[in-house]
Amino acid sequence: MSPRIAVLGLGYVGCVSAACLSHIGYDVTGVDRDQYKVASVNNGLAPFFEPGLAEIVNQRVAAGKLRAVTSLAEGIADADIAFVCVGTPSEKNGNLGLQQMKRVIAELTEILPGRTKPLIVAIRSTVFPGTCEEAVIPPFEQYSAVRVVSNPEFLREGVAVKDFMEPSLLVVGSHDSEAAETVANLYQPLRVTPNIVSLRTAEMIKYACNAYHAVKISFANEMGALASAVGADPHEVMNTLCADTKLNTSAAYLKPGFAFGGSCLPKDLRALNFRANRLDLKLPMLGSTLESNDHHLQRAIGAVLDLPSTRTGVVGLAFKENTDDLRESPVVTLLEQLIGKGRDVRVFDPHIRLDSIYGSNRNFILQQIPHIGRLLASSFEDVSGWADYLVIAQSPNAELKRAIQTSSLPILDLTGGVLTSQGRVTEHTPV
Ligand SMILES: NC(=O)c1ccc[n+]([C@@H]2O[C@H](COP(=O)([O-])OP(=O)(O)OC[C@H]3O[C@@H](n4cnc5c(N)ncnc54)[C@H](O)[C@@H]3O)[C@@H](O)[C@H]2O)c1
Repeated sequence: MSPRIAVLGLGYVGCVSAACLSHIGYDVTGVDRDQYKVASVNNGLAPFFEPGLAEIVNQRVAAGKLRAVTSLAEGIADADIAFVCVGTPSEKNGNLGLQQMKRVIAELTEILPGRTKPLIVAIRSTVFPGTCEEAVIPPFEQYSAVRVVSNPEFLREGVAVKDFMEPSLLVVGSHDSEAAETVANLYQPLRVTPNIVSLRTAEMIKYACNAYHAVKISFANEMGALASAVGADPHEVMNTLCADTKLNTSAAYLKPGFAFGGSCLPKDLRALNFRANRLDLKLPMLGSTLESNDHHLQRAIGAVLDLPSTRTGVVGLAFKENTDDLRESPVVTLLEQLIGKGRDVRVFDPHIRLDSIYGSNRNFILQQIPHIGRLLASSFEDVSGWADYLVIAQSPNAELKRAIQTSSLPILDLTGGVLTSQGRVTEHTPV
């Protein structure tokens, strides 16, 4: 039988969700403390302007498949799934305000005693990772019929109905995989592939998406401002950037990993920021990118310094795999700092032998680390036979990967691990 749905909070997200879930075939009851919103829905009207919403509300109320109430007890009495869509506005200090969320959860716990019908509580409001575990699951602990799911909303006001019907992303996370499947299955009529993830990822993803959108807009605006200041057409520049769907508008460069370096990115960012400063153009996002990269490198260096290692073998010296270009390689900075702290280090890079690198490349490395010749091993075995810990600083090729695995040495993988500000490894992707 088709699940019955309650939607708690009939604001922009709640009312659109309630109307659209009803539109795709479910029996939906909306709940709001605001009598005006409840009366609007019951009169077949949208409580605010959102293109296409009034028509759907009108049709579904007339069909008896959508209604609204002010009483939470009445709203969830028959429900199998309750979507929580209350507001989570900013507090004065910028923190997320959980007042409405905590209140609605407390109200739910008051009416749960005696209930035997299972209930999935699906958090649709935007909440910070950990909120479900800290503020939603504990109050329900004594009610075994209740299971908690995070199902964030990605709609945009102004095109909210269209965004619901043609979702860009569907994410469901829960400690209870069956509950997550049940919520994901609700959206089957929309033919969207669900991403079933961990509870904390489901909470975090909304922040990741919104931050990414904000960064994209700021990037386009800063680049546009610079383009017009140097006499280029901002739209032509950004349209041309978007024409590259391999490296620019794609998943390329969107994986957490090691710091960037090399002969182009740092140099070109520096030049761009120098010109912007000379033009009196404030571009804080582009201006802070090298600093952000440096902080990321320092986290990695902190993690290496924290290792319980007396002989550290580093795999990779160039700024990335399959090149012998050492200019501005973050590994060089890493080695400098390890040596500066008196650490015993050896390094292997399949493409670097001191006797076969020339010119500016050779000058650069000899200037940065004059004794590099003593640290540089000619084979991986020279390093693995000597080291008590391996630090992977660039993605190894298949052969090297096998050698690393068979060495059975403990590994800190800087290319896949994510480091906290304290230099601890929070996620470790073994090579
Ligand atoms: N507005 C958007 O475009 C958008 C998009 C995606 C996600 N979100 C997130 O969705 C959440 C809701 O946003 P919104 O813009 O719809 O908020 P809103 O302020 O428009 O609506 C919240 C509704 O919840 C009701 N409410 C609060 N406490 C209640 C309670 N105890 N019982 C019943 N009703 C209660 C309020 O009366 C209000 O009508 C927020 O976390 C927001 O960040 C918003």
